[in-house]
Amino acid sequence: MHPWFRTLTEEVRDRPLPVEGTVPDWLDGALVRNGPAHFETAEGRVNHWFDGLAMLRRFGFDDGAVRYTNRFLRTEAYRSRTNGDVDATEFGTGPTSLRRRLESLLVPTATDNANVTVARLGGRTVALTETPRMVVFDPETLLTFGTRQFDDEVPGQWTAAHVEHDGERGESVGLTVRFGRTSSYHVYRLPDGARERIELARLQVGEPAYVHSVGLTDRYVVLPEVPFTADPRRFLRPGIDSFVDAFAWHPERPTRVHLVDRDDGSVSSVDASPFFFFHTVNAFDDGESVVLDLVSFPDASVVEGLSFDRVERGVREATGALRRVRIPVDGGRVSDRTLASNVALPRTSPTVRRRPYRYAYAQRTGEGEFTGLARVDVERAAERVWSERGCFAGEPVFVPRETARRERDGEADGVVCSVVLDRDAERSFLLLLDGETFEEVGRAWLPHALPLGFHGEYFG
Ligand SMILES: [Fe+2]
Repeated sequence: MHPWFRTLTEEVRDRPLPVEGTVPDWLDGALVRNGPAHFETAEGRVNHWFDGLAMLRRFGFDDGAVRYTNRFLRTEAYRSRTNGDVDATEFGTGPTSLRRRLESLLVPTATDNANVTVARLGGRTVALTETPRMVVFDPETLLTFGTRQFDDEVPGQWTAAHVEHDGERGESVGLTVRFGRTSSYHVYRLPDGARERIELARLQVGEPAYVHSVGLTDRYVVLPEVPFTADPRRFLRPGIDSFVDAFAWHPERPTRVHLVDRDDGSVSSVDASPFFFFHTVNAFDDGESVVLDLVSFPDASVVEGLSFDRVERGVREATGALRRVRIPVDGGRVSDRTLASNVALPRTSPTVRRRPYRYAYAQRTGEGEFTGLARVDVERAAERVWSERGCFAGEPVFVPRETARRERDGEADGVVCSVVLDRDAERSFLLLLDGETFEEVGRAWLPHALPLGFHGEYFG
């Protein structure tokens, strides 16, 4: 098994890390990341990489030094899983006890194993996954405060794990999916500091699609509805084990792109050629069109490709293409073109969200013997790449230098932070790259090997 998927049980608290090179002294916040780190059950192992138990990892920066804390979320999933059981319906793993399996056929129990990402929502710091259950934690100590759900009028048993924040409007925007006799998507907004979401639009749907993230421009919420869909009745029939079991790829259907007006909630929809995606990169209005950049795949086979019976035969990374999809707002034809290949886990500078931009940062995948990092110049189709043999890098998070935080020109003036696993050393390090040159500034060694994480945020 690749060390990216090996269970780590050790937790350390506020440990100073040895640094090679330098850590810029202007870095004074913390990078908090999330991801699975425990994969065993009494019967063996969870079925899918996405089902490992959530572990938070924090890198606190102060005056050129780095301090590291890692801690499992203390959730219901953690308590049952550390006893060897799976009690809830996970992404690719069903409940293990007969009692829970029978119950889950009637009322699937949403997991609180919030291992996907972290965010500030409603004035709290939370860990998020694809169920409505989020976990509130202390961003300094990583102590778990508890599992919460929104108590509001927005329904749904499933959510897009990623929530887009708009600092100018002072709100976050997200999506829930309600499965039932009639199913629907619910686009919501959550004003900063508020505890209740407001439904912006409701779209009826026969077979809901899998949605992991949406696009956000100043005017629109962009919902690409991919043809990887679930017949809601399948959730009620025996034989459905995990969430993803209910989904199937329909190559004969289009990807339907919905534009939801952020002011009045009106929706316009247009068909595009079928594709699958997890992550939008960025989106913006250019007057005539909505421009949506995302990492796409020709079909949904990547979902099964990340299950452990496939991963075991070699790391099959989520290798996608960075594509630019242009959606004319007058209902014309959708066009798209490829900006880069072999990328995953894309990010941009926070200064260019919802704006024409130049640089996308991503994992450079597809090599097998290593996973690098790439800075893609989306305007000039040029790239800079970092890689090292035997080293496997995770999602790159770009942190702009203070003076660059409000300027588009500053979208490379800062550092790129990524947690890298050195397979031979059997240890991970936090890698810092200069955003302009994409060369190494420094690395801080962890006391152990961290399994591959999903997403993180820099809290300044
Ligand atoms: Fe994600």
